[in-house]
Amino acid sequence: MRSIVYWLITVVMVLTGNGNGQLVENFYASTCPMVELVVKQAVDTKVSQTFTTIPATLRLFFHDCFVEGCDASVIIASPNGDAEKDASDNLSLAGDGFDTVIKAKQAVESVCPGVVSCADVLAIVARDVVVAAGGPLFNVQLGRRDGLISQASRVAGNLPLPTFNTNQLNTMFSRHNLTELDMIALSGAHTLGFSHCNRFANRLYSFSSSSKVDPSLNPTYAQQLMDACPQNVDPNIAINMDPETPTTFDNVYYQNLVAGKGLFTSDQVLFTDPSSRSTVNNFANNLGDFNQAFITAMRKLGQTGVKTGNQGEIRRDCTSFN
Ligand code: HEM
Ligand SMILES: *[C@@H]1O[C@H](CO)[C@@H](O)[C@H](O)[C@H]1NC(C)=O
Ligand SMILES: *[C@@H]1O[C@H](CO)[C@@H](O)[C@H](O)[C@H]1NC(C)=O
Repeated sequence: MRSIVYWLITVVMVLTGNGNGQLVENFYASTCPMVELVVKQAVDTKVSQTFTTIPATLRLFFHDCFVEGCDASVIIASPNGDAEKDASDNLSLAGDGFDTVIKAKQAVESVCPGVVSCADVLAIVARDVVVAAGGPLFNVQLGRRDGLISQASRVAGNLPLPTFNTNQLNTMFSRHNLTELDMIALSGAHTLGFSHCNRFANRLYSFSSSSKVDPSLNPTYAQQLMDACPQNVDPNIAINMDPETPTTFDNVYYQNLVAGKGLFTSDQVLFTDPSSRSTVNNFANNLGDFNQAFITAMRKLGQTGVKTGNQGEIRRDCTSFN
């Protein structure tokens, strides 16, 4: 009888592709049924201490997935300063994101030790912070394993730059199996969080030979940005990326783009480029369409380069390999 049960489980796993590098929603149903509840409690505690938790972890998930796949390689600590998190983009990955994942994983370890990957904890946390900011609720697919490589030198060229145009954005996202629609929807994450002045100062002070200020910037907004970010400003100064509703996950990001209030070139081009403008207009006017597209894109992002089966490992401590 037992062998028939095992045989059936094997058949089901083969049929659902679970042995084949795919993720499933109820992956821990028998091995750690409380995992999502335990993670949510840890996230809620951390969010109640500091709002930064929300944008910090959402961005951390994106950076993890685009470098080596969604495998928590970005969380690895580095005594030598040469891990993924030490790449030049590091300055801006806020510590609260790492802290949230580490604490949520510790809480999970106390109920089901050695079972749930840090990569899955990060994926659940990323969903929970979207919900905590008023965004849409969605199911997260699980079954990722933690990666065994975390190197600063492997980050370059894998993350988009704020100076990118739509072609460059599309090229980079398509390499991660994401469409232009996914890319536009995921950019909506910039409805939350902060940016340091140096990431967009070129648009204010040295845009081109004919115009120091990027002409696609709303002039009033450009002046506000110059006031907040004078030249040679303290590099630690950061400003809200969504000037209207910075702490709510909503579609105001797209309304801002329509109004010329996209902070980065990579934000504003989504409206100035005719190829993406109709999607931006639609998301600006239709919260439901944006939420649906964001959910689809987040689930696809979460599948990027994942390790499954017996690849990688289940890290005990998210900051170090076992
Ligand atoms: C489309 C290409 C993208 C570019 C060029 C880009 C670039 C940036 C830059 C330059 C910052 C500011 C960092 C700083 O100075 O502190 C930032 C912040 C942020 N990004 Fe993106 N990003 C992109 C896509 C995404 C995606 C897909 C997500 C998540 C789904 C995301 C989530 C965030 C969040 C939440 C913040 C705020 C972080 C915080 O407040 O700690 N971004 N991004
Ligand atoms: C970021 O990386 C640079 C260069 O690798 C390093 O000098 C700096 O200390 C790092 N900053 C943080 C906050 O880790
Ligand atoms: C993109 O999809 C293909 C086909 O399913 C897969 O082989 C490849 O690993 C995926 N790439 C990433 C970065 O996930």
